[in-house]
Amino acid sequence: MRHFVLLATLLVACGGEEKKPAPAPAPAPVAPPPAPAPTPAPAAPAQAGPYTPDDFAKAAYEKAKAAGADAKPNAKAGDAAAIAAGKTHYETKCASCHGASGMGDGMVGAALPQKPANFSWKERWEASSVGTKHWIVMNGVMGTGMAPLGLTDDQAWEVLAYIDSARTK
Ligand code: HEC
Repeated sequence: MRHFVLLATLLVACGGEEKKPAPAPAPAPVAPPPAPAPTPAPAAPAQAGPYTPDDFAKAAYEKAKAAGADAKPNAKAGDAAAIAAGKTHYETKCASCHGASGMGDGMVGAALPQKPANFSWKERWEASSVGTKHWIVMNGVMGTGMAPLGLTDDQAWEVLAYIDSARTK
């Protein structure tokens, strides 16, 4: 009887229960792998690197050549008065597409499927002679928003003198 009381007392003192082990901590969440860098949007007008004329430009270059226009130099190049006049032609007739600083980023140009030439793109600027550019200003680039703009022959040389002096090089 004595033993029984002692045992009962011990059981009460221990609460009759074993403590359950604390649950193991949840494993730390594994960080997801970093997302791959987004692929850059293709074919925004580049400002550096090689230029391959599209079919529209290529056809215009060929027509200018056939007309003998490609070899003509710009007699107004570097002429301050011509450059000043050319600036006015540029601002009124070209900037809406080619952009205020000739980067091809004008508001009207942005809406065109065929983006305006970026005059700061050296490789593109050098892909056609100034005579070819003059032919293009007078005749446009068929199939694109580059239409003849009603400039006289002289005014077209002036605007090209201006672009060449002002474009971001
Ligand atoms: C309605 C929009 C628009 C206007 C306004 C415009 N252009 Fe363009 N221009 C274009 C587009 C588009 C092209 C590109 C054609 C292509 O990719 O073949 C272009 C191409 C050119 C090119 C050929 C560049 C090259 O190397 O192939 C020249 C030069 C040019 N423009 C000069 C001018 C000048 C100077 C004016 C103003 C008198 C003018 N443009 C006004 C849209 C325009």
